[in-house]
Amino acid sequence: MIQIKDCYKTFGNYQALENIHLKINKGEFIVFLGASGCGKTTLLNIIGGFESFDKGEIIIDSIPYTHKTKPKDCIKIFQDYALLPWKNALDNVLFALQAKNIPKKEAKQIALHYLKLVHLDKFQDRFITTLSGGQKQRVALARALCVNPNILLLDEPFSALDNFTRNTLQNELLNISKTLKTTMIFVTHDIEEAIFLGDRVIIMSPNPGKIVADIPIKINKIDRYGLDFLDLKREIGAYLKTYRFDMNYVI
Ligand SMILES: Nc1ncnc2c1ncn2[C@@H]1O[C@H](COP(=O)(O)OP(=O)(O)OP(=O)(O)O)[C@@H](O)[C@H]1O
Ligand SMILES: [Mg+2]
Repeated sequence: MIQIKDCYKTFGNYQALENIHLKINKGEFIVFLGASGCGKTTLLNIIGGFESFDKGEIIIDSIPYTHKTKPKDCIKIFQDYALLPWKNALDNVLFALQAKNIPKKEAKQIALHYLKLVHLDKFQDRFITTLSGGQKQRVALARALCVNPNILLLDEPFSALDNFTRNTLQNELLNISKTLKTTMIFVTHDIEEAIFLGDRVIIMSPNPGKIVADIPIKINKIDRYGLDFLDLKREIGAYLKTYRFDMNYVI
């Protein structure tokens, strides 16, 4: 379980996050949703130990972390894949396993297992530069999952993809999260993506960045055009609109 207690973060004299309280259960799929600049990436980075914080406490599986200590086994996936373009798909996944001192043969088996999980086993020899955006993001996903992370942090990983590829990858990520039971924390601007993926959608507002709603998603997600889905879309859309207008945001 992840517990964030009364967390604050400033950049210079700018208050980026204020009074953040959040509990995330093991295996939960959490989505941070909010307007640009509301602190989603900052909060994700703080949870992963990639960014310091000024005040408050973060406890992961009963271990408290301060701004000086870094949680273990948190892996982050970026929007721009962050792959090694001069290596092929298999070597990119193997790269993540290098630090683990696993014998070569076993490491290859593990890497191939995860490439298969993301439906890319047939592309193992392909150089990254020859893969499509969706395929690159699949390699990034396999590379992140192969080390069996405790928590997977995903910062708008699908935002550069076309709608069709994006929906396909959302389906696959949801299936993977159910199979592996990894705790997922996913950032997006997209309401539909948030509802489709999240067990809970955490809505944030900017200036200063704070959590304004924590919405459990308990609907049947298969039909994105179903009434329940559309009602939730409307409800969450209203939240976002309120907080943007409060801040005089121009949409
Ligand atoms: N290193 C930094 N130095 C100064 N200010 C920063 C820094 N990183 C972030 N900020 C500021 O903190 C606020 C939150 O930034 P953050 O990147 O977390 O927002 P976000 O919600 O992820 O936005 P987006 O949706 O555009 O990615 C913004 O106003 C940003 O300008
Ligand atoms: Mg961001």
